[in-house]
Amino acid sequence: MLTTFGNGYRAAVFGATGGLGGALTAALANDPACALLYAGGRTPPSVSGRVRPFQFDLADDVSLTSACDVIAADGAPDVVIIATGVLHGPGLQPEKSARHMERPALSQAFVVNTIGPALIAARLLARIPRNRRSVLAVLSARVGSIADNQLGGWHSYRASKAALNMLVRNFAIELARTHPHAVCLALHPGTVDTSLSRPFQAGIAHEIFSPAEAAAKLLAVIDAASPADSGRLLGWDGQAIPY
Ligand SMILES: NC(=O)c1ccc[n+]([C@@H]2O[C@H](COP(=O)([O-])OP(=O)(O)OC[C@H]3O[C@@H](n4cnc5c(N)ncnc54)[C@H](OP(=O)(O)O)[C@@H]3O)[C@@H](O)[C@H]2O)c1
Repeated sequence: MLTTFGNGYRAAVFGATGGLGGALTAALANDPACALLYAGGRTPPSVSGRVRPFQFDLADDVSLTSACDVIAADGAPDVVIIATGVLHGPGLQPEKSARHMERPALSQAFVVNTIGPALIAARLLARIPRNRRSVLAVLSARVGSIADNQLGGWHSYRASKAALNMLVRNFAIELARTHPHAVCLALHPGTVDTSLSRPFQAGIAHEIFSPAEAAAKLLAVIDAASPADSGRLLGWDGQAIPY
């Protein structure tokens, strides 16, 4: 399925317990070219064989460091996908108005959508291969694009994804100095039928993808991405979305 990383590539998915992360994990686990796949969650997923579970929590720095150590211990990963994220949950609802903004929700959005993924990327960037192609991709969202924002609202989620996009661009610039074959990407998966989007699907006019469909499209984007794409926010169709 992934054709540009050679036979026997190594991959890692953070957020393998989620809708998209689970589908990405299943797709990579079925790729004969994938020699080893690390699949991580707050509760480690139940996997076996070429798929090895690991534990991490985006709010726990020690767990992030040890997860990155596990993934890189016996060789550099060729493909890393950070598929975590939060839009709603206990004490967190996307704000329709600035009047609804409160510190706990804003903090939670930044911890999960920005700080956690940024720390994972920062710890893994130095450990990806220098002499061959690699991709580190973070699931972001089109609503994190400042240029694309015509509707407003969802303040915490939008702002946390916009900050994530900035860090991806920063990491890509830094990475290019030492790792000319490496690609660091933010990805927009489209609207996907997962627990994250389910409360907000009513009235959506465009297509809603199944997690498996979205995973296949995202893996095709990762497979096709070149160092010229590094630092970009790419949609499920491979098109760059302006920041
Ligand atoms: N679905 C969509 O329509 C859509 C659209 C645009 C962008 N996205 C982005 O795509 C990504 C994946 O979303 P999804 O739809 O697959 O959502 P999901 O099904 O709700 O999965 C979210 C994942 O994030 C993990 N997570 C949340 N808080 C965490 C923490 N503190 N530590 C470790 N893991 C944590 C969850 O772990 P647990 O299983 O332990 O809760 C789960 O694995 C997100 O970044 C989202 O913003 C999704």
